[in-house]
Amino acid sequence: TKLWNPSTLTIENEPSIEEAAQLLRDRQVVAFPTETVYGLGADATNEEAVQRIFEAKGRPADNPLIVHVADVGQVEELTEDIPPVAYQLMETFWPGPLTLILKSNGQAAKNVTAGLSTVGIRMPDHPLALALLKQSGVPLAAPSANRSGRPSPTEASHVYQDLNGRIAGILDGGPTGVGVESTVLDVSSSVPVILRPGGITKEDIEKVVPEVVFDPALKGGKDKPKSPGMKYTHYAPESPLWLVYGDDEYFKQQLNQLIEKGERVGVIASKELAGQLQFDRVIECGSRERLEEIAVKLYSALREFKKSDVDVILCESFHSHGVGAAVMNRLEKAAVRTLKQQ
Ligand code: TXA
Ligand code: MG
Repeated sequence: TKLWNPSTLTIENEPSIEEAAQLLRDRQVVAFPTETVYGLGADATNEEAVQRIFEAKGRPADNPLIVHVADVGQVEELTEDIPPVAYQLMETFWPGPLTLILKSNGQAAKNVTAGLSTVGIRMPDHPLALALLKQSGVPLAAPSANRSGRPSPTEASHVYQDLNGRIAGILDGGPTGVGVESTVLDVSSSVPVILRPGGITKEDIEKVVPEVVFDPALKGGKDKPKSPGMKYTHYAPESPLWLVYGDDEYFKQQLNQLIEKGERVGVIASKELAGQLQFDRVIECGSRERLEEIAVKLYSALREFKKSDVDVILCESFHSHGVGAAVMNRLEKAAVRTLKQQ
């Protein structure tokens, strides 16, 4: 796996981008930074190239990929019957962390859409991603660049840990800015439906469309999730994660009980809670008043505790307004157990 180093890598540094683009044109897979998380890219119009993504990640074949584009023209080449509201959303939020589910015209490789009649598309807001898209000249299918089931990568080193030797190269653009993935929005029905909460919030979308709803399946329960990927185990740290719902006193009580039992505990908490703990295995991931900070640090926190160091990870829960919806969605999926204050 070729690692293009950040110190040598700028948008003007054509050789690195051109080298990566050439690999993509040769149907290889290359990881690249976006504003959300690192993506694992391949030519979205070539089935053999796309197949390499599934193999490198160990991703189930029924989980469709998001296609990344450099301009709206590429959207029109891959889809049909684009509703007016989709154009409005592209105009407002692109480039940015919003994936639109549109009707496919069959031009994307069929393994990209996992046999669905729709295709998810977004324009990433990252200079390296956009430069790579332009240089390669093709739309790029790109899931998050982690092994299937692991936390998504927010740094090139995370991609390297998971995929070294399995992919042709990694473009290192430093840590990503948003930290959680794009919002996946289905605009095929009269009221748009959020299939996966992400970097663009429900509140943001409501400024543009009169009504938008969360997919009821996000609440859990027996509704089948419409976004195929939502049903798989995701974002799992090495040690089991327990998510704690309750006040700070309740959290401290649960922590102390585990310590008394002799468990090696790791804690992921806001700076407000971390400041109250006399405890050394704490990863502080920003203020609970600003969940954008928590979002940025979440996945690297989930990767930090190693199996050899902790038996269980206790994690604080947060409110689910704004980007909190995405943070809590990921934590609920990462957790194997929840502790709830009565
Ligand atoms: O921010 C992101 O979206 C990142 C960066 C790399 O762009 N990509 C990403 O891709 O998160 P991935 O493959 O890890 O997640 C794609 C999600 C999955 O939950 C998948 O099921 C859903 O989007 N999806 C893709 N195409 C779909 C479709 N046609 N209908 C419904 N859901 C779809
Ligand atoms: Mg993913």
